[in-house]
Amino acid sequence: MNLSSLLSPNSSSSLALRSALPLRPSNCHSPPSACLNVDVRTPDFNPNPVTQATRSAEIIADEKKFIVGTYARAPLVLSSGKGSKLYDVEGREYLDLTSGIAVNALGHGDPDWVDAVTQQAGILTHTSNIYYSEPQIELAKRLVSGSFADRVFFCNSGTEANEAAIKFARKFQKFSHHDKEPPTGFIAFSNCFHGRTMGALALTSKENYRTPFEPVMPGVTFLEYGDIQAASEVIQSGKIAAVFVEPLQGEGGIYRATKEFLLSLREACDNVGCLLVFDEVQCGLGRTGHLWAHETYDVYPDVMTLAKPLAGGLPIGAVLVTEKVAAAINHGDHGSTFAGSPLVCKAAIAVLDKISNPSFLSSVLEKGEYFKDLLVQKLGKNLHVKEIRGLGLIVGLELDVSASPLVEACQQSGLLILTAGKGNVVRMVPPLIITKQELDEAVEILVRCMPALDQPANH
Ligand SMILES: Cc1ncc(COP(=O)(O)O)c(C=O)c1O
Repeated sequence: MNLSSLLSPNSSSSLALRSALPLRPSNCHSPPSACLNVDVRTPDFNPNPVTQATRSAEIIADEKKFIVGTYARAPLVLSSGKGSKLYDVEGREYLDLTSGIAVNALGHGDPDWVDAVTQQAGILTHTSNIYYSEPQIELAKRLVSGSFADRVFFCNSGTEANEAAIKFARKFQKFSHHDKEPPTGFIAFSNCFHGRTMGALALTSKENYRTPFEPVMPGVTFLEYGDIQAASEVIQSGKIAAVFVEPLQGEGGIYRATKEFLLSLREACDNVGCLLVFDEVQCGLGRTGHLWAHETYDVYPDVMTLAKPLAGGLPIGAVLVTEKVAAAINHGDHGSTFAGSPLVCKAAIAVLDKISNPSFLSSVLEKGEYFKDLLVQKLGKNLHVKEIRGLGLIVGLELDVSASPLVEACQQSGLLILTAGKGNVVRMVPPLIITKQELDEAVEILVRCMPALDQPANH
């Protein structure tokens, strides 16, 4: 959606919104030293007993003392949630447009999910993969029957799913080139994010995530997302085991692939026997209003990696593969102690049952369109807004400046949002069960907080 097609001017808020919490001191504005894959302001949090509640301050101080400093967290201590709402330890309410980074698809405390988890916890939680268990097989059957795939491998996170996909690609190529040197290289694209472990990290485009840990896995060629010509040429070299691509990039800034691009990757891979891997860790499982983001293109991969929302907040990853890929994998080639436990799989069945329902998916699509239209209407004329884009309930608001002051101001006004890209994209990935009324409320808070972008610290 381009700003030239925007509909109407900014309108000021008419809803009665809760008043903003006191602003944090201005020394909070140093850039993050380290963070997850989310840019938030470093909370150089200096608790003031008058304005800051003691419990939060204590927990934040203890985190700084006892936790390895990999995360530049927002200064917010969450203690409970219901639906699309979260509550901090002081009882303040927040509208959650983050879903724990696109995880809590059913929101917080969905009753069917809670029933599934609590019942299964009382029956059997963990067995390891030495034995069979029913929920794992049941979940695999559902994933297979709802997708292009023939078989599933379970793991515990998105990065693990990509790590397994890397190994499967290498093994597949070895298996199909038994008498000659197999291709071992990989292609990944600009703005991509595939994870933090050494293989997935090697496929992740942001150099500053990779360089402190070099040497990472060798043999990765990074190409421009959407560059058909370059991708076709490198694939044709015959040196590439697999191409990893997100049909819709989340961390990278909410960019959608074109059909032409994915089709050309499919054709080029087929010509030389290279595998096409779709990373749907963030964009899959209903987030776009389609069960799989790639469905909208009618282009299908050999391998698809999933994680985030699959078990509604419990750790899970999954690699979906076609039979030809599965045929290359033998006992002992890969494994995980925790993966596919009865507890996690039962939770995932509860999630999949809900989100794969066609009426649920069409509601996500419809709410996504409603949300984007509203954003265009209320923010489209704001001079900081460059583009509003996305599909379903993964929506990006690209700004001409860093989004961090806006994220911070929204948080202080009771709205949680994320950044993406180079920190200039506001990323909104609400629970898929969010209501239109809550989306209205979110837009009103955003409108009210836009002036935070004009603070001198942001220029
Ligand atoms: C597309 C994509 N792939 C992989 C990952 C890594 O997932 P995890 O953080 O569960 O390891 C992410 C996480 O944001 C992601 O967005």
